[in-house]
Amino acid sequence: MDKQYLIVTYGCQMNVHESEKIAGILHERGYTECTDSRDADIIVFNTCCIRENAENHAYGNIGALKKLKRAKPSLLIAVGGCMTQQEGAAEKLRRKFPFVDIVFGTHNLSRLGELIDLRAKGKKVVEVTEQPELLREAPSFRTSYPNAWVNIMYGCNNFCSYCIVPYVRGRERSRTPDEVVAEVNGLLNAGYKEITLLGQNVNSYGNDRGGAFTFPQLLDRICTRKEKFRLRFMTSNPKDFGEELIRAIAENEQVCDLVHLPVQAGSDRILRLMNRKYTAAEYLKKVEMLKKRVPGCQITSDIMVGFPTETEEDFRATLSLVKEAGFFTAFTFVYSRRSGTAAAQMEGQIPEEVQKERIMRLVELVNAQTRELSLPYRGKEIEVLCEDYDAAKGVYLGRDEYGRMGYFKSERDQVGEFVKIKISDTSGVSLTGELVEEKGGVRE
Ligand code: 5AD
Ligand code: SF4
Repeated sequence: MDKQYLIVTYGCQMNVHESEKIAGILHERGYTECTDSRDADIIVFNTCCIRENAENHAYGNIGALKKLKRAKPSLLIAVGGCMTQQEGAAEKLRRKFPFVDIVFGTHNLSRLGELIDLRAKGKKVVEVTEQPELLREAPSFRTSYPNAWVNIMYGCNNFCSYCIVPYVRGRERSRTPDEVVAEVNGLLNAGYKEITLLGQNVNSYGNDRGGAFTFPQLLDRICTRKEKFRLRFMTSNPKDFGEELIRAIAENEQVCDLVHLPVQAGSDRILRLMNRKYTAAEYLKKVEMLKKRVPGCQITSDIMVGFPTETEEDFRATLSLVKEAGFFTAFTFVYSRRSGTAAAQMEGQIPEEVQKERIMRLVELVNAQTRELSLPYRGKEIEVLCEDYDAAKGVYLGRDEYGRMGYFKSERDQVGEFVKIKISDTSGVSLTGELVEEKGGVRE
């Protein structure tokens, strides 16, 4: 029987996509996927360290494997991803979990196959390098049809004061336009319908290659394909979000009219301490520009509460910015102190009770806004890209251009198709509707 693998992923879409690369490497070596850890011959943890919570989860779950490893010594346990790349982390992992076989850093992912071979020869393997390897791409094993992620760049140069990413992902490295376009074309040829371009700050795409070919140009080039597909990207840093990108969103029909533009905070004093390099007014001006040039465009965001020294007044500035920007939805976070970052050294860390109280108020506001923005959907026809079938509920599900999930019933498999549905019910972020344009069960 084939050897089997299980990958446990924490964190952002970048990590979810990197797990597809880990899966690709394992498939090349003859492994197939399993869902029960007891069946696995190798378990790979792809970790995240952006907040303490994410780290604690991973530590807990790795620790829980001690018994399984004792019962089945041939089981390989590998730990990779952002957590391993922090200073002293590899050592800490080895001390805490001596039964782990392989530790690999974010820069070493594409070498996982070789590391498995090394382990087979005997010693435990730790490979966490400070410098990225050459940009060798691992083949992805994708299970997300009809959606696909494509990395356009790695790393981040921004050093927002709270953020660990620049430390664990290194400096910005862009893939060449030819490489990105070839991957996207390959996916479109294979029938994928929605491509999400990934980078920590897509606006600085190409800067490390002299800046001759920019992100908006990349969008233009991908959109010369004439068939119907959707193009998304994340994440865009507001400080470099500008007219050229707005133009590319407006002119290229395939680019979704939804921009994820993390604001983090609404107080200029806090934004300065965060090293975000824009003010609330500048942010709002960009939002206004975007909405004007791209009518109907929606904006989503990341917002953080409880950053060191944040006062009630600062927090209220965040609440008013949320209202003024009219975010469609937002991810909300409690600031988490990350060792090695500038903010970790700051005076005035905020007590947990205050952070909790603020996050509750923020979530309430964001949810209310999302619900309100869902109301106009009732009775409206929308187009969703059907992604999956929920067997338990007996419904298909798909997202509209703005990322809203719509549920509907259909007599036949519609995964991978653009489907029109008429919304009969809205609850929070999800929508329920009926298929339209159907005649005798066959869509024309
Ligand atoms: N604490 C809380 N949230 C954080 N983020 C990044 N670093 C931290 C941290 N130390 C959030 C930011 C970012 C998102 C991906 O995670 O909002 O946009
Ligand atoms: Fe972190 Fe800021 Fe870079 Fe985003 S732009 S990854 S928040 S340092």
